Amino acid sequence: MQVTVLSGAGISAESGVPTFRDVETGLWAKVDPYEISSSQGWQAHPEKVWAWYLWRHYMMESVQPNNGHLAVAAWQDHAQVHVVTQNVDNLHERAGSRNVYHLHGSLFEFRCDACGSPFEGDLPAMPEPVASADPPQCPCGGLIRPNVVWFGEALPEDAWQRSVDAVTNADVVIVVGTSSIVYPAAGLPELALANGTPVIEVNPERTPLSDAATVTLRETAASALPGLLQRLPALLR
Ligand code: APR
Repeated sequence: MQVTVLSGAGISAESGVPTFRDVETGLWAKVDPYEISSSQGWQAHPEKVWAWYLWRHYMMESVQPNNGHLAVAAWQDHAQVHVVTQNVDNLHERAGSRNVYHLHGSLFEFRCDACGSPFEGDLPAMPEPVASADPPQCPCGGLIRPNVVWFGEALPEDAWQRSVDAVTNADVVIVVGTSSIVYPAAGLPELALANGTPVIEVNPERTPLSDAATVTLRETAASALPGLLQRLPALLR
């Protein structure tokens, strides 16, 4: 059996990583998303954007995968599992998932914004969030940026193609912890449904996917995912 998981920030919420749009805790409640996560913002003030991403990079060292990430990794003993994630954290990998495709890039990869060369140097330390920090420079003169996908930028072609294949070949797609409003990622469950593949949504809140999903569970990732594989036959009957 092939299980494809499409995850968003909500799967990392119970690890203590703020989601993007939860108003009371969302990181973006404190900063303007278009200021911090866009190529325009980077062009206008790279030092603010660099500081915010570097802090999120280091913040990941203090959080652990939760039972949701661990359940998805454990499913690999019983099924072929592919993880398509919108998250830029590495919690799926740290939980043990082997096939993880980052549609929106990663906090753990950096590159030059001019020549595109991967940055392998040492990152400056950042024990506490600061409002501004100068990004390292590439020998070509460009600035080092995080390898994340900003608003207005194209998704990584390889990750996208692997994600489409994983959804197309899935026997079931489990959509967990995403508001399902950012395309093209939000189009993947629609592709599954159009192929007649069952889609199970796990989210404590309703989303635009909830009505179309085969099953929608008003549960959190850490509570629903550990027992979900065993529940599949009953859920999909
Ligand atoms: N378990 C499951 N879902 C949860 C939990 C939880 N414990 N806590 C919150 N959620 C749900 C929220 O109800 C919400 O629907 O997770 C979702 C988080 O939505 P967003 O904050 O919008 O995050 P996401 O869907 O990943 O955003 C998609 O938007 O800004 C871009 O690039 C960014 O990758 C991000 C994309």
